[in-house]
Amino acid sequence: MFTENDIVKEVPPADGASVRHYVLLMAGGSGLRAGGGVPKQMRPLNGVPMLVYSIRAFRKENVSSKIILVLNDSCLDDWKRIQMEFPETEGVEVCSGGVDRLGSVKNGLKYIRETYDAPGNVFVSVHDAARPMVDVELIRRGLETASRNGTAVPVVPEVNSLRECVQGHWQSADRANFRVVQTPQIFRFDILEEGYAAEMRPEFTDDASVCEAAGYKIALYDGSPENFKVTEPLDFVMAEAVLKAKADI
Ligand code: CTP
Ligand code: MG
Repeated sequence: MFTENDIVKEVPPADGASVRHYVLLMAGGSGLRAGGGVPKQMRPLNGVPMLVYSIRAFRKENVSSKIILVLNDSCLDDWKRIQMEFPETEGVEVCSGGVDRLGSVKNGLKYIRETYDAPGNVFVSVHDAARPMVDVELIRRGLETASRNGTAVPVVPEVNSLRECVQGHWQSADRANFRVVQTPQIFRFDILEEGYAAEMRPEFTDDASVCEAAGYKIALYDGSPENFKVTEPLDFVMAEAVLKAKADI
């Protein structure tokens, strides 16, 4: 998205000692591609609601991280039931989702600003509740990258061969030039807030594109193949297998 004349804003490394960490756990969607009526993030995987896995991972990384669940309002009753059954969800705060993911992140940022007055040296992880396979190692890689650069976005190489439509013709594309983007995408709070204060554009597909347009360089870190997004019905089968394998290790 940058052109040669764009100015990249400098971000000094964070003062590690006083960093605070907020997690926006994105669960405001309806899961239309997954089907099944109930939004996918509330559905069980091996008996545990999908969103609980991410809460466990972020809590395991650091018990004092604040987790804010950005939730589809239709799921509130379900969430109350989950809170009674899974004590590890205690202390998770809730705010309403928006009409699209960008709107949901905006609501989450507003919640942080209004509830905590957005102090300095704060980092925000924006994570899809639909990625229950996130783990402590991945989160730590992200936080380290973000504290050095102000931004951190997990990526994995593309494994498939690609073809690209150029002027109406499908041409082979070199997959080495591409990376697949995951979450948690982690930003210094003020950078994310500045990005989201701008008018949203159709080409904004994630938080990284929003912050990039505000003039920040996006630092990449290694995601993992198992941190895929549960999107379609088959993904539930694969997620259950991966989660079972991880639990057995
Ligand atoms: N999300 C959100 N608010 C929205 C839309 C999506 O917080 N208005 C969240 C979803 O709950 C999910 C993540 O963003 O955890 C990634 O979105 P996606 O996989 O597209 O989920 P859905 O939008 O729910 O699914 P679909 O697009 O198939 O309807
Ligand atoms: Mg969606």
